[in-house]
Amino acid sequence: MTPVTGKIEAVPRVLSGMRPTGPLHLGHLVGALANWKALQGRYDCFFMVADYHALMSEYEHPERIREWSCDNVADWLAAGIDPSRSVLFRQSDVPEHLELFTILAITTPLGWVERVPTYKEQLREIEGRDLATYGFLGYPVLQAADILLYRAHAVPVGEDQLPHLELAREIVRRVQFLTKRELFPEPKALLTEAPKLLGTDGRKMSKSYGNTIALSASPEQIRSTAQKMFTDPLRIKMTDPGHPETCNVCNYWRIFNPAEADRLWEECRTSRRGCVQNKRELGEHLVRVTEPFRASRARAAKAGIERILQEGAERARAVARETLADVKRAFGLSPA
Ligand code: TRP
Repeated sequence: MTPVTGKIEAVPRVLSGMRPTGPLHLGHLVGALANWKALQGRYDCFFMVADYHALMSEYEHPERIREWSCDNVADWLAAGIDPSRSVLFRQSDVPEHLELFTILAITTPLGWVERVPTYKEQLREIEGRDLATYGFLGYPVLQAADILLYRAHAVPVGEDQLPHLELAREIVRRVQFLTKRELFPEPKALLTEAPKLLGTDGRKMSKSYGNTIALSASPEQIRSTAQKMFTDPLRIKMTDPGHPETCNVCNYWRIFNPAEADRLWEECRTSRRGCVQNKRELGEHLVRVTEPFRASRARAAKAGIERILQEGAERARAVARETLADVKRAFGLSPA
């Protein structure tokens, strides 16, 4: 077996991506951004705006993908993702993703993509969009190309993405078998240990349910959403003891103000804290938590974000070109 052709990086590399399909909300902050921030410094981090992946579901109305891309990156910055420590870039600015995607698409057996569970699930469940396209079947193959192009060792993802990571690992082994070269490390999933944050109505948090709080929401919107949250259903009168472990508002306290949560929960249990007061104070707290996001939006003119993404794309392309050159040589597309 020919030894590894690519450079082995001293600091392990991480790549992750987010689809720009709308404004980011509290769920993204808790589920992904807090984790991304913690990885900076420990890893060589690449964070990508997955706009081709967004286009796969939004191609009938793609007008806002560009705007959401900048918007999302403004939120990344406010969350502490630092362009001087991490590479922030947009997938479509690095055409090597598509070249590698084509080679991987050629070599990936059809059965492997057809049995990815998220594929059938999304075809069935996503309403109002026709996802039965040739490209959408390749969603996880493009995702594998995203990861392998940077020879990432680890990919921070939520549980829902594990089948995609597994496919990426299978693709690595297949390419190794076909070319007799170790072109990429097998990427590991870095499972994000996110606390369980439900939507403001107590259901699974989802933009399509309208139960999210956007990071850029106005203080008025946040206050009014907090006011409408469901609390403990067993507590009818204020004098009834509360059950914070089954109250969504109390769960938000646990996540967004862990230092105070024990005290607040105890006040609730002992009827010293009513549900109306609890919701009002949570609203005020969430206004404070989201303040940096409103400020970042006001500050970060689109031009600034565009420049960060252009610089990121250059740094990303330097790595991507090198990997792609090795892959093309291995497949006989360029001289050995
Ligand atoms: N599929 C991911 C999601 O929906 C987004 C994504 C695209 C991604 N490319 C990636 C995540 C590469 C990690 C690595 O969340």
